[in-house]
Amino acid sequence: MNRRGFTVWFTGLPCSGKSTLAKLLHMHLNTLNYAAEILDGDEVRKRLTKGLTFSKEDRDENIRRISYVAKLVTRVGGVAITAAISPYEKLRVEARNEIINFIEVYVNCPLDVCIARDVKGHYAKAQKGEILNFTGISDPYEPPSNPEVRLHTHEETAEESIHTVLEYLKLQGYISEDVLVTQLQENLKTSAKKIKPIDVARRDSTSLVQKSS
Ligand code: ADX
Repeated sequence: MNRRGFTVWFTGLPCSGKSTLAKLLHMHLNTLNYAAEILDGDEVRKRLTKGLTFSKEDRDENIRRISYVAKLVTRVGGVAITAAISPYEKLRVEARNEIINFIEVYVNCPLDVCIARDVKGHYAKAQKGEILNFTGISDPYEPPSNPEVRLHTHEETAEESIHTVLEYLKLQGYISEDVLVTQLQENLKTSAKKIKPIDVARRDSTSLVQKSS
């Protein structure tokens, strides 16, 4: 079956939940047998965009390279999932114009919640001036004006957010409803089988071994 490639472009402040959502979406799409790749800002900056700083010029270059790879993945029918802050509207518009089937997902989360999360301690450092040009503190984040999907990660679970994304993909015909339903039923059957007596038997035999040794 020939599938339509697409790019899911997560954008949002640091600690808004982009990477978590990208991984979760990747997992769901894998389960549905879609060929998907994640382009995460943190990972990409170790390889594809190694050496780039957080100046405006370098961030633009970072986003341009991510867009380029996403374009290629999408063009051959794959799914590119990007998770970079991508703070500037102009560059996101460039990406949108370059990539066919571009789905911009705004990972909205209030700045104070992101600061409270501060997973890597970067916000604290930025507030002390130890990291310069930090998005949300000393560098701007321009929210998307017209994203395809808006998420609110401070008031919904990651699963709920991904459900919203999957619903959008289904509605727009990027993923087929039949595939989704069939696959979920298959998953349920498989996990039900796994839970049944096998585990119990294993645990019994383990405890027997332990007792006799
Ligand atoms: S982007 O602006 O170019 O899109 P990208 O998503 O690749 O950013 O990288 C963000 C990651 O770099 C975050 O994990 C963040 O904690 C870290 N980082 C380090 N310095 C900065 C900074 N000055 N501004 C934003 N993020 C930074």
